[in-house]
Amino acid sequence: MSFPDLTALRDFAGWKAARAPGAAGPAPDPDALRTAYLDVLKLCLCDLGGTRTASVSMQFDGSVASRELSGEDLRLRAAGMDWPLVGLTMLGLNRLDDLQACVEAVVRDGVEGDLIEAGAWRGGASMLMRATLDTLGAADRTVHVADSFQGFPADHAHGHLTATDFLAVPLDEVRANFERFGLDAGVTFVPGFFDETLPGLAGRRWAIVRLDADTYDATRLALEVLYPGLARGGYLIVDDYGVMAQEDCRRAVDEFRERHGISEPLETVDWTCVRWRRTGDAPVDPPSPPRRRTGADPVRPAPARGATHVPTARELELERELAALQRPRGLWRRRLASRSR
Ligand SMILES: C[S@@+](CC[C@H](N)C(=O)[O-])C[C@H]1O[C@@H](n2cnc3c(N)ncnc32)[C@H](O)[C@@H]1O
Repeated sequence: MSFPDLTALRDFAGWKAARAPGAAGPAPDPDALRTAYLDVLKLCLCDLGGTRTASVSMQFDGSVASRELSGEDLRLRAAGMDWPLVGLTMLGLNRLDDLQACVEAVVRDGVEGDLIEAGAWRGGASMLMRATLDTLGAADRTVHVADSFQGFPADHAHGHLTATDFLAVPLDEVRANFERFGLDAGVTFVPGFFDETLPGLAGRRWAIVRLDADTYDATRLALEVLYPGLARGGYLIVDDYGVMAQEDCRRAVDEFRERHGISEPLETVDWTCVRWRRTGDAPVDPPSPPRRRTGADPVRPAPARGATHVPTARELELERELAALQRPRGLWRRRLASRSR
């Protein structure tokens, strides 16, 4: 039940490619100030502002535990290969840099539409989209933040997705994250499972569609409902395309692109994330009729366990040692009890 070994990960290309945590310093001119602000914000969202960070990973038995990272090991967080204990996004710095560049490009090129993230967790990536828009004076665009705010649906409650409440972040907490950073204007929250909420967004115009809900069903539905509204020059970003455990997400993307003859090349952002920029004008039919769940068949959240404490690896180790020490005493008690009968 031990942690994935960091030594093995150090050879992984995604680890090596992660940029070092750092920010441009401020200078009086507005562009330099803007760059410095966004760099500091990204460090903050990833919880990489100090010399140490607390990182959460899944263990081999599917439970989660935290450990402290420092020095060279901060790359795990910088690469977005773990979950931050207190940071506001799972993304790493390269993915955030790229997201910022996509927002800058759609504003610069006058690409029509709003921005949406489907699968927002604590909201960090959407916060960066809002902040980038604000620094560019693009207050007329709305950032839509779609999530169940209860974690994954019960029918996908397998493996690590049910092991903890860690992935279920209530709407109030996410809203407070935006407010604390002064990023709450121009944000619309879309709470609920995608089957119930996304069809209601069909027909809207998007400049950026960012998909980060891992599963086949969520990715497929989001593509069907949101892609027809992606403007020419807009970006479709898929966070989980390269994660081995999320090969279903990749299948949903490949099937969709094939079905609709989408030939714009998939560009690799980092070890997991890909994106393409819509260049063609060919319409993509919306699903017909839009798949909206009825009240008779509601999606259920995975059962909440109520626990919010993520144990440290050391705590888990001690628990195991304690259990091992208690086992022989239990055995003795049972033997004594059977003799006295
Ligand atoms: C990997 S996390 C998103 C990470 C986030 N983008 C970030 O910046 O850290 C996946 C999120 O998708 C949400 N989710 C998964 N399936 C969903 C569904 N069918 N409907 C609504 N939300 C869903 C979960 O609640 C979770 O917050």
